[in-house]
This record gives sequence, structure tokens and C-alpha cells, in this order.
Amino acid sequence: MSLRLEVYPNLELITEEAGKRLVRWAAEAVEQRDSFRIALCGGNSPRGLYQAMAGRFARGLRWTKMTVCLGDERRVPESHPESNTGLVRRLLFDPLPTKPAFFAPDGSAPDGDRAAADYEAALKKAFDDGPLDLSLQGLGDDGHTASIFPGSPALTEAAKWVLAVPAPTTVPPPLPRLTLTASYLVRSRRVLVLVSGRSKREPLRRLLAKDGDERTCPSRLLHRCEGEAVVLCDQDSAPS
Ligand code: 6PG
Repeated sequence: MSLRLEVYPNLELITEEAGKRLVRWAAEAVEQRDSFRIALCGGNSPRGLYQAMAGRFARGLRWTKMTVCLGDERRVPESHPESNTGLVRRLLFDPLPTKPAFFAPDGSAPDGDRAAADYEAALKKAFDDGPLDLSLQGLGDDGHTASIFPGSPALTEAAKWVLAVPAPTTVPPPLPRLTLTASYLVRSRRVLVLVSGRSKREPLRRLLAKDGDERTCPSRLLHRCEGEAVVLCDQDSAPS
């Protein structure tokens, strides 16, 4: 399936659009399969969306039918400021009266491979081996998405859903990660990528280019998506 770009004036309007789609897609998934499985990402771009999901969009979402997981996590405890679990709990779950089912890798586990295998087993059980309905993703300044950095083994891993990967050398924070692999992410029924800011112009150009190499621009894995992949970007990051 092809990758589509939509340009909005700013991050606020991206957030609004992403929230409306999420509500629509969640309702559609619940109607068709009685559940909605979504992977969330870290970073700054989705913060407003998480707050809006817990706020103005909350009533449009069937939280008891939803399973939320993380597309990637930094290997730190939940209380650490760089923890994606901590971010999602603070902005999304804490304000919600009804919490959805939630799965996240254990960022504090000393053995990364073990934590990856445990997370994979939990997801496979929760999802009955099936795909995500929606994977929410960001784009890094070095072209990464999820925690799949340039040269990552997660680009070529064919069987595993989750890998423990070393700390990136291309972007902060320099923390080892746990990430869904490209082969599992591309099975998602839908992928929605939120991109904002001037520093994303060059990686976005590389992501969208007709030709390129996933090893140097990992987000190009999105060209392999089996479902619909949409990038919502702001004017600052839009290719000229
Ligand atoms: C993470 C992410 C990562 C993020 C991008 C974009 O935990 O670091 O999941 O892939 O989405 O780095 O981050 P921004 O939204 O801050 O641009």
C-alpha cells in the first residue's frame, strides 16, 4: 500500500485531525472486530494527542474495547523522565476514569532480550497473533521511527515482534531501547505518523523520496506497510 502525506498549518491542527481519525478508526475496528488495538509512541509530537484522547476525545472512544501498547520504550524505570510508559500514564491514563488494557515492555528489566521476549509473548497472547489496528509513530531527526535507528537489526528481523536494541548514537537520549520490529509494524492495518518542526524537513524528504535505503533512513520501512500509512506533517516540516 502507498504512503500518503497530508500537510497541516501546525501541530495543534495535526493533533485535532489525528484525534478525529482515531475516534473514527476505533469505532470501525470495534464494529468489525469488537476491539481496537493501538500502539503508541514516545517523543514530543504525540503529547497533545494523548491529552486530547484523555480530554475532548475521551467520550468518543470505547475504552473497555481498547488495548493500548507501546511501539517502543527506553530501558529505564517508569518513574524516569525518559520513560514512554511514564509519559503515556501521566498524559493519557491518569486522567481517564476508565482505563484500557495496557501492555508495555519492562524498561527496568536488567536483561533486555528477556524483556523483549516477555513483551512479545504478552502481545501475541493479547492480540491472538494478529496485527495492530493502528500504529502511531513519529519521525526522528536521523530518519528513525519507533526505536529503529540507522543500521538497526529491527529492520531485517523477520520472526520476532520485539527486539532489545542498543542506545542510538544519532539522536538523544542515549538509552538502550525495546522496540517493535519493522516486520511486525508493517503488518498494522493502519499507520499514522505525526511529524512537526523544522528539524524534520530533511528526514521527511528522505522518508518520502522515491528511492532510498532503510539502513540509513529506517522510517522508509513505512513504504512496506501492508495497510494504509499516512504522514500528517506541519508546514515547518513539509518538503518544499
Ligand atoms: C521514542 C519514539 C521515537 C519518536 C521520534 C520522534 O520513544 O523516542 O517513539 O520514535 O517518535 O523520535 O520524536 P518527536 O515526536 O519528539 O519528534
